[in-house]
Amino acid sequence: MRLPVNRALLFISFFFALANICLIIQLINHTAETRVNETSRNVQPTPALNNRSGGTDQPSPASGKQTSLRELAKKKNLLIGTSLRHWPFTREHKYREILYREFNTITIENAMKIENIHPQPDHYNFSESDLLVDFASDHQMKVRGHTLVWDKGLPTWITEGKYSKEETKRILKEHIQMIVSHYKGKVFAWDVVNEAFHDDGTYRDNFWFRSIGPEYIELAFRWAHEADPDALLFYNDYNNEGSNAKSDTIYQMISDFKKRGVPIHGVGFQLHTAIDQKPDLKAISKNMKRLADLNIQVHITELDVKVNKKQAATKEAWDQQAEIYGDLLKTCLSASNCKAFIMWGFTDRHSWLEEYSPLIFDKNYNPKPAYQKLIDILSQSAGFPATFRLPSSVAAAHRS
Ligand code: XIL
Repeated sequence: MRLPVNRALLFISFFFALANICLIIQLINHTAETRVNETSRNVQPTPALNNRSGGTDQPSPASGKQTSLRELAKKKNLLIGTSLRHWPFTREHKYREILYREFNTITIENAMKIENIHPQPDHYNFSESDLLVDFASDHQMKVRGHTLVWDKGLPTWITEGKYSKEETKRILKEHIQMIVSHYKGKVFAWDVVNEAFHDDGTYRDNFWFRSIGPEYIELAFRWAHEADPDALLFYNDYNNEGSNAKSDTIYQMISDFKKRGVPIHGVGFQLHTAIDQKPDLKAISKNMKRLADLNIQVHITELDVKVNKKQAATKEAWDQQAEIYGDLLKTCLSASNCKAFIMWGFTDRHSWLEEYSPLIFDKNYNPKPAYQKLIDILSQSAGFPATFRLPSSVAAAHRS
C-alpha cells in the first residue's frame, strides 16, 4: 500500500517542481525584456535629438525667432557646455532635449571617476560613460574627460591596498592609459589632474602625493600624452582663476613643465562661485593673459553660482546670479585663450548644489535670467542686436 502512495507523492512533487521552474523562466524572461525595453526607450533620441545636422536648422537670430546658446556660441567659436549625469540622461526626455539644443560640449560629471569606471583592480566599467560619449558624438558635441587623477572618488581597492610606491605608479599608469586609449579620438580634452594644491599653494597631502610624491602630477601628464598624443591635457582646480597663491603655484608649475617638455595644454578654472562671492574679473583676465603668454588654453570647467537659500526665488537674487554668469562669459570671450565655458550642470533639478539653485535652468527646466543673460551677451558679441527674448510667460516666472 505504501509504495503507490509514495509514487503518487513523488509524481505530485515532480509536477509542482516543473511548474515552478516554468514560472521562474517566464518571470526571468519578462524582467529581462522589460529592462531591455526600458533601456532602449530611455536612450533613444527623440526625433528632434536625432537630427545629425548639429543644430544648424534651428531658427537663426537674424530670423528673430528663439535661438540657443549653442547656435550663438558657434558664431564665436566658443565651446559652451555642461556637465552630464547618467541618471537624468537615461530617464528625462527634457534633459536630453535641452542638452542637445543648448550645448556643443559636455563633461562627464561622475561616470569617469575612478570608483565608477575602474571599480575593481581588473574590472573597468565603460558602459555609462560610453553611452554619454556616443550620444555626444551622434550630436556633434565635444567631450571633456573628467578626471584621471583626483584624491576623491577613489575605490577602496586603491586607497586600502597598501601598495608600494612602484606598485602605485604602475596602477596609476595602467589606469590612465586604459581610459585615455579607450576614448582616443572621442575625448578631445582631459582633466588629467584635479585639485592637487591647497589654497596656500602647497601640495595637497592626498593619496597620490603620499604614495608617489609630487612627481605624480608630471607622470600623469606624460602617461596621458603617450596614450593619446592628440588630446588636450588640462590641470583643473578651484580658487585658481584669480590672483592668489594657488594660481601662482599653478602658473609656476606650468612654466616649469613647458621648459622641461612635460605635455600640458590648458588650465581649468572650476569657478564654483556664489552671488555673495563676486569673482574678481580683472584678476581673472590677468591670469588668463599670463597663461596665454605660455601658450596655455583656459577652460572654465565647472561654473555654477550659488544663491543663498534665504534669497532664493527673489528677482534680485536671480538678477545677481545672471550678472555673474554674464560677467564671466564676457571675460572669457575677451581672452584669446579662453576656449570653453562649461557649467556644472544646467538645471537646478540635477545640480550637486541643488539646494542653492546655482544653474541657468530652474528645477522645471525653465530658463532663468542667467540663461537670458548668456543669450544676450553671445548675441551682442556675435554682432546681433539683443532682441531675442524668452517667451514672456517663462521670463515672468522668474520675475516674481
Ligand atoms: C561632484 C559631482 O558634481 C557630484 O555629483 C559628486 O557626488 C561629487 O563630485 N570639483 C570637481 C567635480 O572636480 O568632480 C565635483 O563633482 C565638484 C567639485
